[in-house]
Formats: sequence, structure tokens, C-alpha cells
Amino acid sequence: MSEIPFLEFSGLSKRFGGTQALDGVSFTIRKGEVRGLAGENGAGKSTLIKILCGVYSPDAGEIYLDGEKISPRTPAEAEKLGISVFHQEIPVCLNLSVAANVFLAPDMPGRFGMPNWREMYERCEEIFEALGEKIDPEKPVRECSAAEKQMVLLARVLSKKARLIVLDEPTTALTPPDVQRLFSVIERLKGMGITFIFVSHMLEEIMSLSDRITVLRNGQYIGTLDRPEFDTEKLTQMIVGHSVVSVVSRKQVDERPVILEAREIGVGSSVSGISFRLRRGEILGIAGLQGSGRSALVRCLFGSPPPDRGRLLVDGVEVSIRSPLDSIKLGIGYVPEDRKILGLFRSMDVKRNLGIAHVDRMTRLGFLDMRAMKALAEEMAKLLRISMPGVDAPITSLSGGNQQKVLFARWLAIKPRVLVMHEPTRGVDVGAKAEIRRLIVNLADEGYSFIVASSDLDELLAISDRILVMRHGKIATELTRGQATKERIILSATTG
Ligand SMILES: Nc1ncnc2c1ncn2[C@@H]1O[C@H](COP(=O)(O)OP(=O)(O)OP(=O)(O)O)[C@@H](O)[C@H]1O
Ligand SMILES: [Mg+2]
Repeated sequence: MSEIPFLEFSGLSKRFGGTQALDGVSFTIRKGEVRGLAGENGAGKSTLIKILCGVYSPDAGEIYLDGEKISPRTPAEAEKLGISVFHQEIPVCLNLSVAANVFLAPDMPGRFGMPNWREMYERCEEIFEALGEKIDPEKPVRECSAAEKQMVLLARVLSKKARLIVLDEPTTALTPPDVQRLFSVIERLKGMGITFIFVSHMLEEIMSLSDRITVLRNGQYIGTLDRPEFDTEKLTQMIVGHSVVSVVSRKQVDERPVILEAREIGVGSSVSGISFRLRRGEILGIAGLQGSGRSALVRCLFGSPPPDRGRLLVDGVEVSIRSPLDSIKLGIGYVPEDRKILGLFRSMDVKRNLGIAHVDRMTRLGFLDMRAMKALAEEMAKLLRISMPGVDAPITSLSGGNQQKVLFARWLAIKPRVLVMHEPTRGVDVGAKAEIRRLIVNLADEGYSFIVASSDLDELLAISDRILVMRHGKIATELTRGQATKERIILSATTG
């Protein structure tokens, strides 16, 4: 008897304007496996998932679930079929309790339109028990950690009896221990017969969790690797289409002039007593767990919110930063961690998003010089190899990683002396990751200075001249390039 695949994609195609997002993609998934889905930014991963989940309908091709053709037209229809998805951002109602979020209407148990809270709490606890988690169902979600929010979402999915759960870059907002926690819950659910599709740019993660990995490139199916065949180089090759050199070499920067100096700066109760010097052409890495003050530190350098004590010197002269505008005037740029909330203007097109930090130089007689803006955008897009329909396209039509590149380009365009970057390659594919890192290193060689805060230790180790490890709002250790290892960073971030 030939086995019917649990899920089958057959000849799926989807076109957006001039972009062939999916081009005749066919493959099958077995019941109870975790299938990794990898590919460059813009490869078509989210498009495939959105078709599966009823957000888009395909131009051609079919999907079969347990041998039956399905064509969900809305996410609600997909959910009825047992297909649920987690998106790149975490949609929860912060003001509501954990239980209310798990049973978001219309599934709330209750009579006469009134929720039955006791029953909700009980069912909620049962679901968490199945997940091997303990979370108070009455707690407001606002008080939950990022990991707990993910658990709430998983519980929501389980309450709807999902058979197939799609995770589109679920770990980008999580710390390493939380990632482990999520993975062990996934293993558990897999044991209960639930099938997963897991999309990620973190090759290490995707290889550790998946049973098989399917690679898409330019909207086409490239191939599938079985667990025994997993290998970073092979996978990278399939994703990018060629091999990627990720090693970078750094020049000595010891003798260069100091351009930014912090003396005992602090912000509220999140960071205090921070002193460091940043030299011209230096890349200063900032490591630390979530809650270590890493984010508050990089944000305060950009004035949001500014330090409330200590002194900052630029070129040896004391300056005061009270707002992002002050920072920009001093030549400090900032690429924020959360591009969706802090960075991009979702209603604007690519060129405006890219040129916005540059408007003072883009105005002629009080009007925006659109020609200059367009030229700048085209130049930067070429430099960073941003793949998109064009600079006039809405920013929301770009894939996640390409949006990240636009944000990076925005600040590069003003040629900052210091560029503060927060998670610069989060959600960015392996090829583009290597490009962005190489770009940072090349720009540093030209005399730009960088402060890079990242939870990706491989990234910090690859590019930093020095790494400050944060713990409890203070600098726990400073490691030079020669001293820094993963073990040392983790040790000083977690103990003492
Ligand atoms: N709504 C849309 N309108 C126009 N173009 C779109 C739309 N959605 C996706 N695209 C284009 O289709 C292609 C595939 O995008 P998709 O979001 O599927 O990529 P992805 O593999 O998920 O990338 P990433 O890893 O960056 O999230 C991209 O070129 C993207 O710009
Ligand atoms: Mg995507």
C-alpha cells in the first residue's frame, strides 16, 4: 500500500505584479514530522505559508491534506482544517489575561454570551499541562515574558485542535534558553502526532529541530535534505546557490583616535555606571541576555530615552543627547531591533523609507527632491542587493529580510560616524547576513565606527574588535577579539 502523504503541495505558483513569488513548487510532508523551510529573503517561504493558511490563493497548483484537496480561502477556514500559523510578530492582547488570549472569541466557553472564567482557567491549565508548562491563566499577558507569550499562542492553537502548526521565524524575539523551551514543547507536541513547518534563517536552529529541511530559491523548489545529510555548508549552498565566505579579517584599531566616549552613564534603573571608548573604525560588540540592559544601553546612545546621568564625549568634547535628533546631528545613526514597530513606515514606499533620515539633504526650495531620493535609494539598493519590485514599491511588499536591509541602508546613506545597530541581521538570510557583516567590516576599515548589540554570538565574534558583556545593567566583562569565545561570553553574561 502506498502511503498517502500528510500534506502535499503540487505545482503551486503565485505572482505579485512583476515578481514570481512561487514557481511550480511541489513537495510532500509526512505526518508528525518537523519540516524545516529555508531560503533567502524573498525566496517565497511566507508566500507558500500564506497560501496554505488561506491568506492568498495560488495562481496555479493544489494542496492536499490527508489525500484530500483543500483550498482554504481565509485563515479561519484553514484553522477549521486544523492548520494554524504563528507569524513573524506575536499578536496577543496585552491587556487581557493569559486565558482570555488562549480562548480569544469566538471560542470562549460560556453561556448566554458571557465567558465562563472558571472553565476557561481550568481548560487553560490543562492545555499548559499538556505543553509541560506552568503559567498562571489569570495573569495579564502584559506581564508575560516573550517565551510565555509564545506558549500562550501555542495553547491558543492547541485549543483549536491543530493538526499542522506553521512557525514562521518564531525564535527571533527569544533568548537562547527560551528557544530551548519552545523546542522542547514542539518535540512534545510532535510526540502527540502534530506536524510542524518551521521557517527560520538560523541554520543551527533549523538543523537541530527539523527532521527534514526543504529549500526554496527564487520561488522554486530546490530540494529536501534528510536529517543525516544536514550540513551547514551544503544547506548554505542550496539556499544561496553558491558558497558563502563568512570569514572576515580585521585590522588593528588600537592606535586610532577615540570618537565616542561614555563615562559612567546610566538610564533609570536599567543601566548604570557604563564607561567605554569607541575608536575610529572600531566595531564594538555588545552581548548580554535579555534584561541585562543591552537594549537600554544602545537605545540611550540614540537618545530614546537618553542617559540621565554620566557624561558622553564626541571627539573629546562633552555633548548632551536628549533626543534622537541630537544623536543624528552628532553623526550617530541607529538601526533598531524591531523594524516593524520602531523602524519602518508601513504606509510609505521604499525610497521614502530609505531617504527619511536624509530629508534635510533631500529638500530643494522646501520641497522633497524626489529625483535625488530615488537616485539615493537605487544606489543603496544596489549596494546592499535589496531584492524588490523597485524603489517606488510599498515597503510592505518586500520580504522581511529585505525590509531589514532598507533600514540599514537608511542610516548608511547619511554616512554616520557611529552607527549603533541592534540585532542587525535578525530575520536576514545567510547570504545577506554575510553581506551585511562584510559591509560593516568594510565600512569600519574606511573609518566608520560601529556599536553592534546582538544576541547572535557567532555574529558578534565574527565582526567585533572588542565585546562588552552586559549583566544586571552593568558591564560585566570586556573581551578583546583574541580573548572572546562563546563560552567566555555566556559565562560572564550568566554568572557572578
Ligand atoms: N503582497 C505582496 N505584494 C507584492 N509582492 C509581494 C507580496 N508578498 C510577497 N511579495 C514578493 O514575493 C517574493 C517572496 O516573498 P516572501 O515574503 O514569500 O519571501 P520569504 O521567503 O518569506 O522571505 P523572508 O525570509 O525575507 O521573510 C518577494 O520578492 C516579495 O517581495
Ligand atoms: Mg517571510
